[in-house]
Amino acid sequence: MVTASEGAAMGSATANENWSSRFAFIMAAVGSAVGLGNLVRFPAEVGANGGGAFVIFYIFCVVLIGAPVLLSETLIGRHGQSSAVGSVKKVARESGASEWWAVAAGVGMLGAFLILTYYSVLAGWIVYFIGVFTGDLVSNIASGSLLAGALDGQSVEEVQGILPALQADAGTMLTMHAIFMAVTIFVVARGVHGGIEKVAVWLMPTFFVLILGITIYGAFTGAFGAALEFLFNFDASRLLDPTVQLSALGQALFSLSLGSALMITYGAYASRDTDLAKSSGLIASADTSVAIVAGLAIFPIVFAAMAPDALAGVLAGDVPVEGGLGLLFISLPVAFQTMPAGSIIGFLFFIMVFFAALTSAVALLEASVSWAIRRFNVSRVIATIVLGLTVFAIGAWASFSFNSQADFQPLDFMIFSGQPVFGIIDELTAKILLPVSALLVSIFVGWIADQRLIDSENGLDGGLHKFWRFLVRWLCPIVITAILITGIFPGLVGI
Ligand code: TRP
Repeated sequence: MVTASEGAAMGSATANENWSSRFAFIMAAVGSAVGLGNLVRFPAEVGANGGGAFVIFYIFCVVLIGAPVLLSETLIGRHGQSSAVGSVKKVARESGASEWWAVAAGVGMLGAFLILTYYSVLAGWIVYFIGVFTGDLVSNIASGSLLAGALDGQSVEEVQGILPALQADAGTMLTMHAIFMAVTIFVVARGVHGGIEKVAVWLMPTFFVLILGITIYGAFTGAFGAALEFLFNFDASRLLDPTVQLSALGQALFSLSLGSALMITYGAYASRDTDLAKSSGLIASADTSVAIVAGLAIFPIVFAAMAPDALAGVLAGDVPVEGGLGLLFISLPVAFQTMPAGSIIGFLFFIMVFFAALTSAVALLEASVSWAIRRFNVSRVIATIVLGLTVFAIGAWASFSFNSQADFQPLDFMIFSGQPVFGIIDELTAKILLPVSALLVSIFVGWIADQRLIDSENGLDGGLHKFWRFLVRWLCPIVITAILITGIFPGLVGI
């Protein structure tokens, strides 16, 4: 077998690395899907959008939009056997369509590349918190109080101040970002077989054990009932709220790593006998389960540490829960202080988040590495290092948004107004690049590509096949167009 780098050196467009098993493919794809999106973004979105209504709508979006687009992306990749751009080109060529459709993958690839710039800054914070909790655990072990709460001896204000202090310290923040990118570059440089797949096959199962363990422990020691009520009880009127609907749709695309060229790229490494329809179903269900389980891990712990009247306000829908990054980096560490064995749980929790972040970061980088190897005829190692360092540099710049450049808002208009660089990258990727790419993919697969070719890859038949075609041709393009328009012009729906 030729490796990708040898193949690239020989100028062969078909040289490809492959997953060593179907299990490896599923773990790598689930590893890419399960990430900070499930552990940080999902709980925050649930909190901001009133709990249960968001969760229900989210599940609809995954089934009706996410899973069909996921299958579309993996099947383009498997047929194309190239980078995402190369794969779309090949399918277009064989369908007698313009190769310009490869823009669908190009936009997604740019999206993945840019997401990684800020993703790795956040992952750097996780690395820092692992450091804090390791120190805490070690000192508890040394003093014989293994089952103590976390960060004993620090006031609540001090714990709440850990993140702001890190953000104020540009040197440390950059160092953490550098450490995370170095690990990501190392894994991707080792290739599909020796790096990406190894990490996924080891870290994802460990991740599942950790998240289940923490959830079960939290169910006994935390406010599990309140968390259940919060996640599944809903106010029917909020189901019709466009803000809730659009957030759920955007989150579904992001969480399943769609519209980012990645599922095309990973599909290209799948063997001919992999059932892509089944695999897509499995990947989508695993990702969704992790998001919900993450809610069931995080909220009981956070709610247990809240004052009863504050919690009652949250459950009544009157008070939003601390959203966004504050949930993970502020509320949770505070809650670990009073949780029994909080020191160990806190340590395991951040390790778990790190595993999820790493398998996603590796995928985010691979989307463009796989393209660069072929486009510039360079070795995998060179492509990975050059692209990885560029991501590091842009990410470093973005990280100053929390520091000296908070007021530097270069694109102060429309969805970018009031956003520093970090926020601009987030808005640009989540609201424009990912939806545009997913929209083009669904139009391409639904309307442009040769349907016999598509059908030879999708492994569906009968009613399910008809249903999938309907979704890809009609529902996905229409709904994704709606996300795009309302995402860019929020005023239209009054949000
Ligand atoms: N799905 C990832 C998460 O939930 C984020 C993501 C979006 C991603 N697009 C991607 C990861 C492409 C890998 C590749 O955190």
